[in-house]
Amino acid sequence: MPLAKSTADHIKDLAQRYPSKQSAIIPALWAVQHEQGYVTPEAMAEIAEHLGLPASLIEATASFYSMFLTKPEGRHEVVICVNAPCMLRGADEMTAYLGRALGVRDGGTTADGAITWHSTIECLGACGGAPMMQVDHQFEENLTEERIDAIIERLRQPVAVAAPAPAAASERPKRKAPAPRRTRSES
Ligand code: FES
Repeated sequence: MPLAKSTADHIKDLAQRYPSKQSAIIPALWAVQHEQGYVTPEAMAEIAEHLGLPASLIEATASFYSMFLTKPEGRHEVVICVNAPCMLRGADEMTAYLGRALGVRDGGTTADGAITWHSTIECLGACGGAPMMQVDHQFEENLTEERIDAIIERLRQPVAVAAPAPAAASERPKRKAPAPRRTRSES
């Protein structure tokens, strides 16, 4: 998908603003990610063209920084630890269960776009609560199949929409003035 004109114009503007065009790569990647949600190879090629730099340099920068997404991801990120202490307490079984429960392989995103998950061999620093996983940067420890089910159900809840704030007094509809009482002589 080609970039929106406003994004392309912004990147061209960045190219003029920085003394070195390489300095514009990160703000350009942010601009693309804000527009499209992630940065495709096509978008990287477009950035390269606007900045007059090789596409390989844009790709190297996007893949170096973990904050840039190169494929669509779910609203929630689940990372399950499979390092030795977690494995000794059943991480393999929990990982297999998580994959079955979500219906996607390691590294995948659920069809409803709610959850992207992957396993990691790196200790996440909560071995005392093994087996464990990290959900949106929060630890979920002592995993069981039931706990995984409950977490998935929570993550699949639709995003709550805030109720509209009550109208200010000046904006509230004015009460209708009561009709004047009719006296006996008027009736
Ligand atoms: S080994 Fe899993 S949290 Fe340390």
